[in-house]
Amino acid sequence: MAQLPVPLVLSAGGQSLDDLRREAAACEACDLYKLGTQTVFGEGPTDAELMIMGEVPGDKEDLAGHPFVGPAGRLLDRALEEAGIDRGNVYVTNAVKHFKWRPQGKVRLHQKPNAKEIAACRQWWTQELAVVHPNVLCCLGATAAQAVFGSKFRVTKQRGDFLEIADGVLGTATVHPSSILRADDDRREVEYEDFLDDLRAVADHL
Ligand code: URA
Repeated sequence: MAQLPVPLVLSAGGQSLDDLRREAAACEACDLYKLGTQTVFGEGPTDAELMIMGEVPGDKEDLAGHPFVGPAGRLLDRALEEAGIDRGNVYVTNAVKHFKWRPQGKVRLHQKPNAKEIAACRQWWTQELAVVHPNVLCCLGATAAQAVFGSKFRVTKQRGDFLEIADGVLGTATVHPSSILRADDDRREVEYEDFLDDLRAVADHL
């Protein structure tokens, strides 16, 4: 397992999730606020045992203002249920909180956030982590995993490993559900089963 690039010091400065959500709604730490409809902050119970972190809100999330409500979110919900994890007890967020897109005809095409945008948003997920202080932080996909474990982290090789990332918080990573949706027909079921195995391992660590 990778070492953390920057040690995580968890502090939300005495702020609640509602305080942070209000502050993040006005965030202009990078230019993505100009593209997104709104800041899509994390959601879930303050005392959640599990925090799940994706990459960046998609088109549906940008319009709704809630994380993981589109196709990837539906796959995540199904997998959590099958892994025996109660979604109502999970805090769900993203490494970057504004939708990044470029136009293609009438479609807003998802774009990967760059290193500067990921760094600008670090202040939000670290504070969410400080307030929620879950037993496990599970990163979905390379962007979230590298935000936590550093740019050398490879989800293909290191998925399913657990490392203490802060006092009493275990970090782990698996694939992003979007990658399962994009997989070839003959691979999709296998990749979904592997994802389920990773989530079952998360459940065992809660
Ligand atoms: N993909 C993500 O990484 N996050 C969302 O909220 C939705 C899709």
